[in-house]
Amino acid sequence: MKTVKVGLLGIGNVGSGTFQILSMNRNSIAEAAGKPVCVAGVLARNKNKKRDIDIDPDIISDDPDCILKSDEIDIVVEALGGIEPATTFMINAMKNGKHVVTANKAAVAANYDKLLKTASENGVQFKFEASVGGGIPILNAVSTVLRGNEFTEIMGIVNGTTNYILTKMTEEGLPYETALKSAQEKGFAEADPTADVEGIDVANKLTILMALAFGVYVKPEEIPTLGISRITEKDIAEARANGEKIKLIAHAKKENGKLQYSVKPMRLAENHPLAGVSNEFNAIFITGNAVGELMFYGRGAGPLPTGSAVVGDIIEISKTITY
Ligand code: NDP
Ligand code: HSE
Repeated sequence: MKTVKVGLLGIGNVGSGTFQILSMNRNSIAEAAGKPVCVAGVLARNKNKKRDIDIDPDIISDDPDCILKSDEIDIVVEALGGIEPATTFMINAMKNGKHVVTANKAAVAANYDKLLKTASENGVQFKFEASVGGGIPILNAVSTVLRGNEFTEIMGIVNGTTNYILTKMTEEGLPYETALKSAQEKGFAEADPTADVEGIDVANKLTILMALAFGVYVKPEEIPTLGISRITEKDIAEARANGEKIKLIAHAKKENGKLQYSVKPMRLAENHPLAGVSNEFNAIFITGNAVGELMFYGRGAGPLPTGSAVVGDIIEISKTITY
């Protein structure tokens, strides 16, 4: 029976989480995919770095062509981070006939049309469920079972790091820097956490959500964006005294045919459903003209929750591999 061979670009938080799931759930994944799935190659910046996972060091390389040009690899998982060289690697992989799965919202948001067009031109699949909401299957839901709706509004908490920081500042009185350090240690933050705390990561995710839900591509840099880096302990205390919590909110609303969008910290009443979303959890409200209001909730960051979404995409692609 054919074994699907996966090449991992990156073995950091997301790459390791993906590797771990493919290993610990090997049998159920093979059953779901209809064939075994294994990791045949891994790209890292430093192939000699000590890793916390049980991985054969011989499959780790610092040469991207070992994966991108390999004859045996069927699916390339991109978990490097950053727009480049990640986008070029994904495009080269597709041109070499490989399906691509990514968790990289910065690359998807910046090059959305180009990546989808390259996949289509090369007859391969391009999937990016993990790029928004970590383990929450929001993109798949919007693109498949909810496709019969016209959407009018999306509102949500879609960054685990900033929600973790705001929660720790609000509930435990931790200073901003201490809370950020803890989010980094837990593997929630971007390699450069500026993208998290300045709202850039949320803007990238809103670009992807709007492209799928409204069919409109808005560049992330065109979304009015404010992060949480200037939120002080005093702001948090004032909100608390007023029965409110501060949350970093992505919002897009279609009114009279016009789409309005923003990313900014908002003070929400403590009984607002989004005010109860704590730590690295994310929640996304979406309103469709048939289904009405829906709320998706789950872990928005971290190796295993994100790996869960990556592996889901790998399985869906593997099912279609018949050669
Ligand atoms: P990490 O920084 O933990 O891991 C990055 C990995 O990529 C490392 O293994 C690194 O090698 C390798 N790498 C980076 N650049 C290069 C390069 N130029 N050439 C070769 N190898 C390279 O990142 P994360 O796993 O946290 O994030 C990866 C992607 O997933 C990002 O796009 C992020 O936005 C996204 N994401 C992250 C989530 C999370 O919770 N962390 C959740 C959802 C999405 P080495 O190990 O040698 O340094
Ligand atoms: N840095 C991101 C976050 C990772 O904290 O939400 C998940 O996309």
